[in-house]
Amino acid sequence: MTPSITRNVSLKAYNSFGIDVYAAMMTSVSSVQELKAVLSDETISNLPKLILGGGSNILFTADYPGLVILNNIKGITAKNIGQGDYLVTAGSGENWHQFVQHTVSMGWGGLENLSLIPGTVGAAPIQNIGAYGVEVKDVIHNVEAVSLKDGSIVTFSAADCHFGYRDSIFKRAAKGQFVITAVTFILTEHPILHTGYGAIEDELKKNHITQPSIADISKAVINIRSSKLPDPKNLGNAGSFFKNPEIDEHQFLSLKSEHPGIIAYPSGTPGQMKLAAGWLIEQCGWKGKQIGQVGMHAQQALVLVNYGGATGRALLNHAELVRNSVHDKFGVMLEMEVNIL
Ligand code: FAD
Ligand code: EPU
Repeated sequence: MTPSITRNVSLKAYNSFGIDVYAAMMTSVSSVQELKAVLSDETISNLPKLILGGGSNILFTADYPGLVILNNIKGITAKNIGQGDYLVTAGSGENWHQFVQHTVSMGWGGLENLSLIPGTVGAAPIQNIGAYGVEVKDVIHNVEAVSLKDGSIVTFSAADCHFGYRDSIFKRAAKGQFVITAVTFILTEHPILHTGYGAIEDELKKNHITQPSIADISKAVINIRSSKLPDPKNLGNAGSFFKNPEIDEHQFLSLKSEHPGIIAYPSGTPGQMKLAAGWLIEQCGWKGKQIGQVGMHAQQALVLVNYGGATGRALLNHAELVRNSVHDKFGVMLEMEVNIL
C-alpha cells in the first residue's frame, strides 16, 4: 500500500536550524517496499523528491516545491564472521547516536569516536561523517540504495562510494539519484582504539582511565562534544557550517609567516595541509558576534547559529559575509559543508 501523503507541511520541526519553510507534500516510509510504492506512484512521478533523515545537515532557504520523504526505515542485524568481527547492518532511518550506543553496548568497536553526531544512519555515508580522528568510511562495508530513477536496488561497496573528507559519490556523480536504505559496517571485538585526538586523552586522564574500553571512549567523546557544540534543541544549527579547507604546503608556509598562530594539520594527502576554519573565522572577529538573529557560535566559530526566528536566506547571507571576510584576510575560500536547498 502507498503511504499517505500530506500537503503543505511546515518543515520547522524537521530541520535542526529550525527554519520555518513549507513542503508542498510530505510522506513517511518505514520499509523498502513502502519507498518503492511511493516512487512508482504515477501521480507524483514528476515531482522533485527529497529524502530527509534528521535534517541536521541541511539549510532550507525556500519552500520545498516537491515531495519530502521522511525516512523511518529501521532494523539492525548482525552476522558473526569469525575472529571477533561482525557485519552489522542498520536500516537507514535508525537514529545514528542510538545505533552507535547499541554497537558500543554489544562490545563491537569501530564507531565509538562517532558518538553523539545527530541524524540518521542513512545520511552517514553521504558526507562520510567524521569526528575525533575517525571517519565512517573506515568501517563501512557497503551501502544499499534504491534508485530514484527506476526503483532498482543497487549495492555500493565502500570503494564504489569514493569517500573523501566530508565527501562521497552521493554528493557528486550520484547526487540526488539514490535513497540509501541500509548501511553495513564491519565492526570488531578487537578494535584499534583512536585516542590520539588531544581532547580525548585529556578527558580520559581527567577521569583516571589508563586502559580505556570503547564505552570509555564513547563517553569521553560525548563529554567533549556536549561542552562545546550547541544542542539544536536549544539553539538552531547544523554543526560545522564550512569544511576545514585543504591548501598546499607552499600556501600554508606563506600564510604561517604572516599569521604564526594559524592552526593546521597534515590533511592525509601528501603536500596538503588542512586549516582549522574555526580559527580563521575567529580571527576575522565573527566568533560570538550576533547580527539580528544569526551569528557564529561563541564556543565554536565554525558553527552558524539561528538565535530564533531567522530565515534560511538570512543564515546563508551571513555565511557568505563570513566566507568573504575569510577570503579577504587569508586568501582562502571556505566551502560549505551543509546542504543548501
Ligand atoms: P539530513 O540533514 O536529513 O540530510 C542531509 C543530506 O543527505 C540531504 O541532502 C538529504 O537529502 C540526504 N540524505 C539523508 N538521508 C538520506 C538517505 N537515506 N538517502 C539518500 N540521501 C539522504 N557531521 C559530521 O560529519 N561530524 C560531526 O562531528 C558532526 N557534528 C554535528 C553536530 C551538530 C550539533 C549538528 C547539528 C550536526 C553535526 N554534523 C556532524 C552534521 C550532521 O549531523 C551529519 O551530516 C548527519 O549525517 C546528517 O544526518 P541527517 O539524517 O540529519 O541528514
Ligand atoms: N578553533 C578555534 N576557534 C574556534 C573553533 C576552533 O581556534 O572558534 C580551533 C580549536 O582550538 C582547535 C581547532 O580549531 O585547535 C579545531 O577545532 P575542533 O577540534 O573543535 O574541530 P573543528 O576542526 O572545528 C572538526 C569537524 C567537526 C568534528 C570535530 C571533531 C569539520 C568541518 N568539522 O571541527 O565536525 O566534530 O572536528 O573531530 O571537519 C561537522 O562536520 O558538522 C562537525 C561538527
